[in-house]
Order: sequence, then structure tokens, then C-alpha cells
Amino acid sequence: MATLAQAALGLTHPAAVEHLKVSFAAKEIDVTEWKGDLLAVGVTEKDMTKDDNSKFENSILKKLDTHLGGLLAEASTEEDFTGKTGQSIVLRLPGLGSKRVALIGLGKSASSMTAFRDFGEGVGAAAKTAQAQTVAILLASSEGISAESKPNTASAIASGTVLGVYEDIRYKSEPKKPVLKSIDILDFGSGPELEKKLKYAEEVSSAIIFGKELVNSPANVLTPAVLAAEASNIASLCSDVITANILTAEQCKELKMGSYLGVAAASANPPHFIHLCYKPPGGAVKAKLALVGKGLTFDSGGYNIKTGPGCSIEIMKFDMGGSAAVLGAAKAIGQIKPPGVEVHFIVAACENMISGTGMRPGDIVTASNGKTIEVNNTDAEGRLTLADALVYACNQGVDKIIDLATLTGACIIALGQSVAGVFTPSEDLAKEVFEASEISGEKLWRMPLEESYWESMKSGVADMVNTGGRPGGAITAALFLKQFVNEKVQWMHIDIAGPVWNEKKHAATGFGISTLVEWVLKNSS
Ligand code: BES
Ligand code: MN
Ligand code: ZN
Repeated sequence: MATLAQAALGLTHPAAVEHLKVSFAAKEIDVTEWKGDLLAVGVTEKDMTKDDNSKFENSILKKLDTHLGGLLAEASTEEDFTGKTGQSIVLRLPGLGSKRVALIGLGKSASSMTAFRDFGEGVGAAAKTAQAQTVAILLASSEGISAESKPNTASAIASGTVLGVYEDIRYKSEPKKPVLKSIDILDFGSGPELEKKLKYAEEVSSAIIFGKELVNSPANVLTPAVLAAEASNIASLCSDVITANILTAEQCKELKMGSYLGVAAASANPPHFIHLCYKPPGGAVKAKLALVGKGLTFDSGGYNIKTGPGCSIEIMKFDMGGSAAVLGAAKAIGQIKPPGVEVHFIVAACENMISGTGMRPGDIVTASNGKTIEVNNTDAEGRLTLADALVYACNQGVDKIIDLATLTGACIIALGQSVAGVFTPSEDLAKEVFEASEISGEKLWRMPLEESYWESMKSGVADMVNTGGRPGGAITAALFLKQFVNEKVQWMHIDIAGPVWNEKKHAATGFGISTLVEWVLKNSS
């Protein structure tokens, strides 16, 4: 994040922590010869089997152990390391080029990208404790990994490592500097495909860190204006391929965005409608895409204020998680510069507050496609902002739209904290996005767009209300959004209310960015 100077309420200024981009490289050198701070070996339970003489059967572990005079076998036995997922030991042993050796458990076997990313996070945790600047990673056995999945696997491990090391220290009074500089992936082969994927993974990892920082930033610092400035900053850093257009409230009024402006009306921090456009170098465009993100820098609920235990009002700074995913993707795409695809990044940023100028429950607002909405609950504000953002996206003449939003608590009830809900009438788009998520390792689950539930969204006076009852709340929210999408456009809504936030770490996850980038790459030519 570019820490833009602002006179924030509370006089808080995030520290300008410089993130040096961690470089990823594939190397084919002998483990015993690698020189650096930490050598991390991914080990399955099977890899840990020892022969009658208590020696490793696995050839890599055997080689390391021989080099270390049997100390590796001894230490792993003493520390009871069996290769289970989440287990790790870090040893400082003389006799190797590496200062330290870590064994990281992979469980019975690691096969999904999620598992490899989690393994990377384990390596990252070890690298952080060891204050390592240079890390090498290899798997004790890699028979299970096909040649074609090696580039993606290496990328998942490397980016997992960077994210495992990362900690947001901008708001600590004594920030410590990050030290990790490079990650070498050993024994994964070599070649242009692997190198290209690792290069992409470098960009995606820094984009995820950027996205996390946007979400972690409190609402007194990250106002709609600051979010818009962060978006403009991406455009100026990638000025060869990205242009920015930030619309003021006045311009949104000209576009008749009554639904969005209704939500913004109570806040002293004015709304900013963000539109970035990526055009590939060299012209020709085969696919036009839009990514739309919910950008509520804070959601108090409005007059239907969030009260009571479990309402989570104190973490509602994360209600711009959809926009963080979209802007994070913009940052990565602006660096990767995929050919043949045009991408619009759209965020109707604002804050849902309470004041004498704010929207009342029962008010009727009119969206930019002319449809009228009776606001029976001011806390269902995300869909009101997305309505105008989706109409705007369709007007860009795009073929496909994906929107991401921390839209409903109901989606968390349905799918829990780690899985996002996917809603789309398009089988083709569903296929594309699920393929992308298999590479990114992000967990998505398709939900039904049950049209009969629209019944609960009927209004006596306007075209619709903005909330149905509690049953199927994530579904009725998606059906509401559908009213604002042109039927000729392929559209998907992803509810990220659960996975946007890590409850244990009290921090943002950066969810969505890697899947979005993979999806854009799939649409490039
Ligand atoms: N931002 C919330 C959704 C949310 C709630 C995300 C809790 C993460 C955790 C959204 O604006 C909201 O308030 N939704 C309401 C909708 C209801 C009034 C129909 C909800 O889910 O309670
Ligand atoms: Mn709300
Ligand atoms: Zn909200």
C-alpha cells in the first residue's frame, strides 16, 4: 500500500514499510551445495520411514543425514517429528551450506494446491523465526507431482512462503523490517514455463500483500478517498497499460446512481466511484472482462445499526474486501500484462454511516437502470452499491463480469469461515472460475440462484425491496444483484464474507486475488 498522506481521525499514520519484492527462482543444484539461511524440506509421513539401522529410506533425507553425520535422523526422532501436517522442526547443524535445516510435515501426501500453499506458509513461519533472508525449498519426494503441474505447484509453495512470513506491522509503534529476499525452489526442473509461472507468482504475492493491507487498514485511515487514491496509484505505476477514472458524487449523480448515493448519503467522507481500465500492450482484444468489488470502507449498518454480540461491527472495516481483491488483481495484471484481454476494475466506494442526511429504512431509491428499490433494511447496503456498479460495468460493453463482496452473514452460516459462495447462471463461467480456483487453491462452492425465492423480495410500492427474510439470505442477495445485470453478459457473484478475514490471526487473508488473476490469464491469448 502506498501510505498516502492524510490527516486521519485519531492522528494515525501507518508506517511506510518498504516491501522489497521477494524473488523466486527454480534451481537445480545439489541440496548439500545450496548456500543460504534456511533449507526447508517438505516431508510426508512415508518419507520419514527408517530402515532397521534407523537410517532414512528416502534418498534426499538419507543424503542430508549422511552429510550431517546422522544428526538429522537423531534430532527428528528426539523431537518426535513424524511428517504430520503442521509439524515442523528447525535445526542448526554444521556441515551444510545452509545455516539451518527445517523439516516441514506434509501429512500422508500433498496433492492439492491448497496443501502446497499451506506447506509454503509453514516454511514461511520457520523462515520468520529464523530471520532468514534466503530460503531454499525442496520436497523429499515429488513422484506424485506430474510434470505439467510442477510450475503451478512451485508457485503455490513460493507464494505460500512469502505470505507465511508476512506480518502487517504498519500500525505498530516499533515496526520491524521484513528481511526475506529470495526463495529458491530446488529440484523442480527448469525451463521457460516454470520461470514464467514463478515470475507471475512474485507479482501475485505482492498483490495479495497489498490487498491484505487495504483490508487491515482501519476505516479512519482508509476512507473512500484514500481507497480511490490507492487505485490511482496503481494506474500511475502501470501507466503503460492502466488508466484511472475516479468519479465524484456529482458525476455519479449525473449517471443517476441513486442506489449507491443513497448508501453514501450519511457519511462525512464523500463517495468515490473507482474505474481502472487495463488495455493490453499491442492492441488486439479478444475478451472484455469486468471485476466489480464491494467497497464499503465501513459498514455501521446505518439506521438498522449493527448491535448486539456477534454483529461484528468492530471489524466492519473489512467490508471493502471485495474491492481489495479487485484492486489487488489490477496491481498484478498491470505488472503481468497479459495479451488479448481488456479488464475493467470497478468499485463504488463509500461508507455506511448514520446522520440526519442518511437514508431511512423505508426510503425508496432509484438505481441507474431506472429500477426502484424500497430500502427495508439499511444494513443490506452492499447490494445497493453493487447495483449501480453492475449497471456501470455492463455499460462498458464487457462479455463477462465477476463481482466479489462481503455481502451476507448468511453466507458464513451456510459455508463457514473458509469457503466463498459462488452464484452464476452461466455454466461456462462457472467452469472457468472453478478451474482457476484449482490452481489458486482458494475454496469456492457453487450455490443455487433459486428464482422462486424472489417472491420474498417483492415490494408493495417499489420494484423490489432490498432484503427478503432470513432464509436463504445469501441467495436472495444474489438474486437482487441479478436485477442489475444485462442478460447478454455472463455474470458471477462471489460472496466472500467468510474467507475475507482470518479470525485466528485477526487479519485479512487477501482472498480472491489469486483466483481472479488466474481467471484473467485464462481469458488472455
Ligand atoms: N457487510 C455485511 C455482511 C457481513 C456480515 C459480512 C457479517 C461479514 C460478517 C452486509 O452489509 C450486511 O450487513 N448484511 C446483512 C444483510 C441483512 C440485513 C439482510 C446481514 O448479513 O446480516
Ligand atoms: Mn450491512
Ligand atoms: Zn456490508
